[in-house]
Amino acid sequence: MARSVLAFLVVAVAAAACLSSAAATGELLPAAGTPLSFGDGYTQLFGDSNLALHGDGKRVHISLDERTGAGFASRGAYLHGFFSARIKLPADHTAGVVVAFYMSNGDVYERTHDELDFEFLGNVRGREWRVQTNVYGNGSTASGREERYGLWFDPTEDFHRYAILWSRHRIIFYIDETPIREVVRTESMGAQFPSKPMSLYATIWDGSSWATSGGRYKVDYKYAPYVAEFADLALRGCAVGPATACAPPPDDAIAMPPGQRSAMEAFRARYLTYGYCYDRLRYPTPLPECSVGAEAAEFLPSGDARATLRRRGRRHRTRGGADSAV
Ligand SMILES: *[C@@H]1O[C@H](CO)[C@@H](O)[C@H](O)[C@H]1NC(C)=O
Repeated sequence: MARSVLAFLVVAVAAAACLSSAAATGELLPAAGTPLSFGDGYTQLFGDSNLALHGDGKRVHISLDERTGAGFASRGAYLHGFFSARIKLPADHTAGVVVAFYMSNGDVYERTHDELDFEFLGNVRGREWRVQTNVYGNGSTASGREERYGLWFDPTEDFHRYAILWSRHRIIFYIDETPIREVVRTESMGAQFPSKPMSLYATIWDGSSWATSGGRYKVDYKYAPYVAEFADLALRGCAVGPATACAPPPDDAIAMPPGQRSAMEAFRARYLTYGYCYDRLRYPTPLPECSVGAEAAEFLPSGDARATLRRRGRRHRTRGGADSAV
């Protein structure tokens, strides 16, 4: 199983990488398995000394303290590709802390931006971090496409890889070798499927007002600094630049093998704690790409998984639709 997963990733990466056109234009893309060093591929966005490089610039620590959070972004923008990082999250009491690893073009397209997110929401001591993914296209911020998950491991103990595969017709989010979410472009989704070049971002910031139990638990700076560690940052896509022409990846080749699909389904059956496709309060008519089956019985009208409720007790809803369990 592990081997077929790897083979799939290699194929997907090669398909997404546009290596030949990149070479032809002199635009340097990393060979598979050779992550860019920070200085070559990224630039600090904010947080002055709260961003620190380690291991020859191959590992990046970003931290949050009472002065500031921190963040960085890729120097280039990419149209499709494969983007990943190994991330280790801060431990202990992390309520209110948000770590984000995402693609966006919000700085270029203010009203019609695209975005693909991994967001990690901290928690009170002894409660696990929660992960959410989101997809926005062409400024569709009114239609959140959030999903939230539990994890089968403690993300503060070790590095784990979080990856986004983005092609013309398909987006796949991965945690380690497991695909956790697939978004297939449907005609009705139209421009709400991200389709303009995006940059890669990583940030840590204070989400006290909403991240944990709708803002009930705020960041406690007694425990600062909160340090998120990033390693093996990988960008394999069509870099967009003045001299770069890159054909889109041959994306029909990137179909998920059956073994991967069943791994994804098993993950989702167990760890999906909220899905917008099940949220009938927010979307009385599910968004067009949702295909909801018998598994919908496992979810409340709020989109929250019933099993999660039983396991974790009270949940709190915020205005933005983000809620959390503590
Ligand atoms: C994207 O959104 C803008 C502004 O709402 C709209 O004018 C435009 O037609 C949209 N683009 C596509 C391809 O639908």
